[in-house]
Amino acid sequence: MNFRTKIDNKYDPKRFSLSRPAQFPSLWVTLLDEVIPQFVKERYSPQESWKKKPFSQTDVVFFSKGLLDLSDFFTLDRESATLPNYFTTAKFRSSYFLYFFALQGAKFLTLFDRYPLAVEAALAHAKKTGVLSIVDVGSGPGTASIAFLIHVLDRYKSATEIPFQIHLHWIDHNQTIMKDGELFLQRLLERFPQFDGDISLTTEFRSWWKHPRDYDFTASIVLFGNVLNESSKDPKVFLQGLAPFLKDPQGAGVLMVEPAFRSASQRLSQIRDELMPRPLWGPCLHVSKCPLAEGRDWCHFSVPVKLPGSFFKRFSIKLGGVRDWLKFSFIWLAANEDKKEAVFRDLLPLVRIVSDPMTTPRGQQNQICRPDRVGWVPSHKNLFRGEVIRYDQKRYDSVLQSDHPKTRDGKSVRKPIRRPGVRK
Ligand SMILES: C[S@@+](CC[C@H](N)C(=O)[O-])C[C@H]1O[C@@H](n2cnc3c(N)ncnc32)[C@H](O)[C@@H]1O
Repeated sequence: MNFRTKIDNKYDPKRFSLSRPAQFPSLWVTLLDEVIPQFVKERYSPQESWKKKPFSQTDVVFFSKGLLDLSDFFTLDRESATLPNYFTTAKFRSSYFLYFFALQGAKFLTLFDRYPLAVEAALAHAKKTGVLSIVDVGSGPGTASIAFLIHVLDRYKSATEIPFQIHLHWIDHNQTIMKDGELFLQRLLERFPQFDGDISLTTEFRSWWKHPRDYDFTASIVLFGNVLNESSKDPKVFLQGLAPFLKDPQGAGVLMVEPAFRSASQRLSQIRDELMPRPLWGPCLHVSKCPLAEGRDWCHFSVPVKLPGSFFKRFSIKLGGVRDWLKFSFIWLAANEDKKEAVFRDLLPLVRIVSDPMTTPRGQQNQICRPDRVGWVPSHKNLFRGEVIRYDQKRYDSVLQSDHPKTRDGKSVRKPIRRPGVRK
């Protein structure tokens, strides 16, 4: 009884699960339904007379043309293509605000919701230094840092004041999207006259890996949002570029979020392997080599979710259907001092499920992440990608002998089982 409770606290699988939908702050909904549409209409309407009118279905039709092009751009052959500097085009910037801001921001909010101890580490750093410093690398319009700001404002929504200043620091090689983001942030902050002067922004216009000489900064949290997959494929340039951010992280450390496609996710796993053993908030539950850093499968998550935003919903429909999944990969490096709370040692009784259930010759199974190689466990109930289970050594070890379930003629056979969407 008591003994179990103690063990559960540390090794509670629910604490680490990444398959539950997140709660979105009400301020996020206001931002999506009011601040963004109004801002986009004012800034990007081709006719002066449109700018002051409310955002309507006619605007959905007008702005979705650019959105369809941008979406094609992001999805076509992402394994090999290098993206040009797309934010130089106004229709891509407006589409990003109207759709991708909501989508990518929701991924960050989901992770902030899922890792409250990491967020508290950032807030503790802010209380100690007097400033909550949020560095946003490849910021675009500031999606990741604005999502963090909203998460923090939501935590303090019943307080009369916040016990620190808040400073956002954006780095991007496109100046125009940062300018748009800055104006947008101003619009958002106009709704919080009580924080006048407490929230500030610096923008740095440069390639994120080309640091000024003796580059030094302090941050309560560093966020990389969907930028690494657009960056140099040269591992030397890449790792040297990351070095100042990863050297001595403070507060909540460094969170890198990437799209869920294979090369982007495997790049993150490879960065993680270079870093280990270092304390991580997630997603790993062991410190050995990542079994998915190369090869056919890769580590990514798909969280069922009912995404907020009525215009976001209309734009999703224009893109082919209501979106009820968030798909992404991530690595969250903790500060060295967080060895106790972050995952530093192998959490041996726990394993992460890294696939949805599949029909295999051995029945319904899930792939699990184990040190150096993946394994398989029988899927007794509906177990989904991102969930965490207790690892029963006796029961599973025979299953772990094989990396891929095979038929008698030696062919690998796996058939994914369709996963139910978010319950409405
Ligand atoms: C897909 S957008 C992501 C924007 C934002 N972080 C988000 O998650 O919504 C990628 C951003 O990275 C920027 N970017 C790409 N390569 C970069 C580089 N080498 N240095 C700085 N920024 C870069 C792009 O200009 C763009 O703003």
